Amino acid sequence: MSFLEKMKTRYTVKKYNPQGHISEEKINELKEILNLSPSSINSQPWNFIFVNNNSKVKDQLAEASYWNKEKIVQSSHLIVFQSLKNSEDFEKQIEGVLPEGSVNYYKNFIKPKGEDGIRSWLKHQVYLSLGVFLSACADMGIDSTPMEGIEPERYDDILKNEKYETLFAVAIGERDEADTNQPKFNPKTRLKTGKVIVEA
Ligand SMILES: Cc1cc2nc3c(=O)[nH]c(=O)nc-3n(C[C@H](O)[C@H](O)[C@H](O)COP(=O)(O)O)c2cc1C
Repeated sequence: MSFLEKMKTRYTVKKYNPQGHISEEKINELKEILNLSPSSINSQPWNFIFVNNNSKVKDQLAEASYWNKEKIVQSSHLIVFQSLKNSEDFEKQIEGVLPEGSVNYYKNFIKPKGEDGIRSWLKHQVYLSLGVFLSACADMGIDSTPMEGIEPERYDDILKNEKYETLFAVAIGERDEADTNQPKFNPKTRLKTGKVIVEA
């Protein structure tokens, strides 16, 4: 199947088969793929927390996920996407690691935006990795649900990853065959390409 066909058939899963389990091998591949995500100046201001089904933490996070609770409980794994919280820790991470030109780009173009501007820029980088991750899942035939419908502060309290803050999470697993959100029951809707893709 071409990648285009895979993107047509991927969809946001609303109901998982609780017996579905993603193999260790595929999980390891996804970890490597996430670690290869591109980011501005190779900033990589992220942590990706993998929570598997045997972990009590997964149920605790499900409780902090509003209408997404059931999906998380019945999924195989939950991956929490986090961003570095403050500029000081980010600067420590890049100093002496990134090439001088990249550090200077940060100092001259991002740092003058102030703490809020910097945090916003850091978060944008993490969203890029979401795109990479969902595309990888599509390619590997893994079902997924991206979720902003969670309580990030409660996630932070549960995960205790001090320097990072939670932005969103993705459940992965195997769809329930009766999931009504599958494109065969609920065809995908998108704006017309002519409205979105513009030639200049
Ligand atoms: C950043 C982001 C956050 C989302 N949050 C949720 C969510 O909390 N719960 C949910 O069921 N779907 C969520 N979605 C799924 C979108 O509604 C879905 O991707 C969109 O309607 C397109 O449908 P498709 O993914 O099935 O093609 C989210 C998607 C993205 C990219």
